[in-house]
Amino acid sequence: MKVVIINGSYRKSGITASALHMIEAGLKEEGVETSFHDLGEICMSHCTGCCSCYKTGHCCMKDDAERISELIAEADGLVLGTPTYASNVSGLTKDFIDRGHFVIEQLLRDKACVTIATGENYGSRDARKVLDKLVIYSGGLLCDSFAMNAPFNGTDMVREELSEKCRRTTRKIMKGLQKKSFHPIQKMIHFVVLNAGIAAAEGRIIVTIDADNRMTKKTLCEIYGLLRSGKFIGGGAPIRFERYSFPLWCNDMLCRVSFGLTGLYSGIFWAKKETFDAIGGFADLKAMEDVATAKLLKKYGKQHGKKYTTLRKNYLINSTRKYDDLGDWLYFRLMIENAGVLIRAALGDRSGMDSLLDRMFYDYNDEH
Ligand SMILES: Cc1cc2nc3c(=O)[nH]c(=O)nc-3n(C[C@H](O)[C@H](O)[C@H](O)COP(=O)(O)O)c2cc1C
Repeated sequence: MKVVIINGSYRKSGITASALHMIEAGLKEEGVETSFHDLGEICMSHCTGCCSCYKTGHCCMKDDAERISELIAEADGLVLGTPTYASNVSGLTKDFIDRGHFVIEQLLRDKACVTIATGENYGSRDARKVLDKLVIYSGGLLCDSFAMNAPFNGTDMVREELSEKCRRTTRKIMKGLQKKSFHPIQKMIHFVVLNAGIAAAEGRIIVTIDADNRMTKKTLCEIYGLLRSGKFIGGGAPIRFERYSFPLWCNDMLCRVSFGLTGLYSGIFWAKKETFDAIGGFADLKAMEDVATAKLLKKYGKQHGKKYTTLRKNYLINSTRKYDDLGDWLYFRLMIENAGVLIRAALGDRSGMDSLLDRMFYDYNDEH
């Protein structure tokens, strides 16, 4: 088994490097092959935003950053550490993240990952979150993650605490590496996939639809006509199920009422590519990203004197695959079973929400 370890600090003997070397030693003891890279030592240019990696899967600059990306692609695991600079990751780390084209490539898919952020006072948790998001959005399994504060150059003062944290982290990544075949399948986060598609698209109009849903025959003609009229910024589409039963009819009614009341149409999203670019693509949320995106489009339309609307003649044909397998009452059942989690979330405590969202929207799609 191979694990790539990346030190995002320029300082080869700093606290981040110390933590990473402790983990490296632990992994070696377990017989894992490691390759350690100090980003301060490598030859790495800034990302120029040419987007060639979107099309080819490789960076057009053949320097050490691309070489390490290739090593990561072949490895079973990744340990990524950064110092906190201005409540964020270091510039070196950010450069590497940009150059690594992790997300589009889903570079960390099936890999056991660990993230570490060290800091002195404030912001190390924010830096850690940047790394955690990178792992999750790139399809990796986050085995462990810690943020640790220590005085600058204070490795000796915190050696014991650091080595305890690193021992625990090594155990966790070993567990992730060994039980790889039992990993819960990582989530292909919806908005990441859509935004990757939008970024790679070359046409002037973007129409998004989830795999295994369908659109009626003349949907694209209607969209073209509505955009060409100049009155509309974009819109959604009515949602109809492939088949109907009482619970699915209730779902249908809920959709109609919420679309009618809010005007935040979704299902199929359509707008000019320049509009999606201007709003920054799909909203960066694990769930309800469609509602948030509809809000962004609506607001952007208002600023430009155009309406956000819905198709009139055509509609989305919603696949009932999930209901066929898990029962038509699926969402109502999950909501009743998890009423406590939902009430707590409404009151501000979101613990438990993440796994509920996985059960509602991601687990099934990843496993079937
Ligand atoms: C330019 C710069 C900015 C920093 N900004 C922060 C900060 O915002 N928050 C923080 O907690 N520590 C900050 N620090 C302290 C370092 O993050 C901290 O000492 C870290 O452990 C150093 O890691 P290293 O020894 O691996 O280089 C900063 C240090 C530098 C040099």
